Amino acid sequence: MSESGTFYITTPIYYVNDAPHIGHAYTTVLADVLTRFHKLAGDQTFFLTGTDEHGQKVQQAADKSGVSPKEHCDVYSKRFKDAWDGLNIGFDKFIRTTDPEHIAYVRKIFQALWDRGQIYEKEYEGWYSVGEERFFSEKELVDGRDPVSGRPVEKIREKNYFFRMSAYQDWLIGYIEEHPDFILPDFRRNEVLGFLRQPLNDLCVSRPKSRLSWGVSLPFAEDYVAYVWVDALFNYQSAVEEKTFPDGSPIWPADYHLLGKDILTTHAVYWTTMLKALDMPLPRHILAHGWWLFDNARMSKTTGNVVNPLTMKDVYGVDVFRYFLIREMVVGQDASFSEEALIQRMNSDLANDVGNGLSRILKLAATGLESRLQPVASVDEEESALQKAAGEAVTAALEMVRLLKLSVAIEDTLQLIRAVNRFLEFKAPWKLAKEGEAGKAKLNAVLYHAAEALRIGFSLLHPVMPSKMDEALAALGLSLGESPLVWGGWKYGRSLGQGVNLFPRHAVDRLVGKIDLPAVKIITASKSPTDPFSLIHLKVARVEEVEDHPGADSLYVLRLKIGEEDRTVCAGLKKHLSKEELRGRNVVMVYNLKPANLRGVESRGMILAAEDAAGKVVPVNPDQGVSGDDVLAEGIPLEPKAALNMKDFEKAPLRVQSGSVRYGDLPLQSPRGPIRAEAPDGTSVR
Ligand code: MSP
Repeated sequence: MSESGTFYITTPIYYVNDAPHIGHAYTTVLADVLTRFHKLAGDQTFFLTGTDEHGQKVQQAADKSGVSPKEHCDVYSKRFKDAWDGLNIGFDKFIRTTDPEHIAYVRKIFQALWDRGQIYEKEYEGWYSVGEERFFSEKELVDGRDPVSGRPVEKIREKNYFFRMSAYQDWLIGYIEEHPDFILPDFRRNEVLGFLRQPLNDLCVSRPKSRLSWGVSLPFAEDYVAYVWVDALFNYQSAVEEKTFPDGSPIWPADYHLLGKDILTTHAVYWTTMLKALDMPLPRHILAHGWWLFDNARMSKTTGNVVNPLTMKDVYGVDVFRYFLIREMVVGQDASFSEEALIQRMNSDLANDVGNGLSRILKLAATGLESRLQPVASVDEEESALQKAAGEAVTAALEMVRLLKLSVAIEDTLQLIRAVNRFLEFKAPWKLAKEGEAGKAKLNAVLYHAAEALRIGFSLLHPVMPSKMDEALAALGLSLGESPLVWGGWKYGRSLGQGVNLFPRHAVDRLVGKIDLPAVKIITASKSPTDPFSLIHLKVARVEEVEDHPGADSLYVLRLKIGEEDRTVCAGLKKHLSKEELRGRNVVMVYNLKPANLRGVESRGMILAAEDAAGKVVPVNPDQGVSGDDVLAEGIPLEPKAALNMKDFEKAPLRVQSGSVRYGDLPLQSPRGPIRAEAPDGTSVR
């Protein structure tokens, strides 16, 4: 799948002062799934994860528990390793920044930067935050406190060592502009370029041991340790310094660094400029994913709303949990975690679509063919069509994986599996099973085609659900094998298994929160009584195409793109805006409105608009928001109703105030900024 035939992927190395949670689990599962897809396509792969173990917080935590920092790290690092074992993560190396090889590598790098004149010493005075382990300028403080954590800061004057980062600002801007796929997704690249429009400072890369001793000593100043981020970033190289791919080619540079959006600057700016200063190759792509939200608050230890991934896996199974993470989050955007959504995915995608076809084949083969299938060539139109569909699904899914659109790759695979179910309905093999010897050959042909298409579908789902798909393949008397994605890879005449229930259905009312299953710690950030606005799901959508409504003069039919989803919505905007004015525009829509048939066209949602001072009705403007973003009112949790009616919508009136759309006093916002409307104060938005 990679042009080079090799694939090196990394996750961030996780701080040992936190327990593994869904945010960490997501990145690690994503890296695992991508690695397994690349393996499936024949690439040589290397997958790195690990723990970030130096720094003040670790030193303080260890002091508090009366153990040495290393002893503290040993315990906490193991928790991550165990968590990944439990989630069936097949990393090639688990690095710890306390590994002696890593420490030696960091010292070597510091020496090289020093020898090249890229590091200099300077007396420095600033406000230091222990919580954030960094200095803030006077201007950055909020009420005299650390602007990130709100904790007190100390004024510190000391000599430190600085990396000449500012010298690389113009080069970095040029590099990012010339390599549009270096930082993904697009809007994150623009954020980094925006950040680089401000002057870039040099980077303080040392901490005096008098203040912090738990770190890597600098070779040219042994009374200083390395700034923990510099120490951490070089893990991506130190881990593979001595290693090669099986064919002998070097592992560095990485194909993908996966990370959350909160640590994009350290990777896109600090890391990249240091590599440049050392004349080392840069990673090929840096991918910043969004956050998992719970009740629209970011999950974190400080807010206490942490979903323990391991408990979720114990309740619903490892593979279902992996499937949910990968299917539910559009890479790059935020996603909401809810147990209901997990159960629904499990029931509809997995129990219905994936489980059904397999159990039908097994049953019919057992009754009519003594559980044995023989490979045969396609003889009729439907059989050839199924074979073709399998080939197309492989091409489409792998292309989507290459573009990191994993939820679409899964959907393409489910389409194939649904096609198998339709093929079985159409061919009605249960009738053939009753035709005795005469029907046997036909029955074999039908079941062979269905089984072969399913085998390919299962192989495509294997990276996401390795254990369940091994089980499914075993039920067909098979394993992943050498050419899992090629039609005809069926091993001749092996006996099929008996019935299996791969994905037992789960009742939605049997939520962990409601029944007495092993407790999952899901603490909501705010438990307010349901506000009418909570029921409304607003999303940013992009207008792809505009057509006249065939039967209503005032209506347009808009084709919208919401993230990766396509929808058709009718809107009464024809009197007010031309098609050109609408095409390509971002709008805000009521996403969960009950579908309505408007004179023969099904409309799924409604565009929010307001009447401006001149009486023109104009859609509200999500500004920086991008297609697929949720639009929220701060502090009101999103608990959308499955099919909202207009009465529900009207219970939460939206109005324009000072150029932005508000619910009461609360401005509506996408994760990237407010929703604007050029209309007089008090104008209603609908
Ligand atoms: N140690 C640094 C990384 C150094 S890499 C050279 C670090 N560690 S961390 O443990 O705090 O965070 C690791 C990752 O978890 C980050 O990518 C962060 O974005 C991610 N997540 C933390 N909470 C998250 C969610 N709720 N959702 C998704 N990912 C989030 O930063």
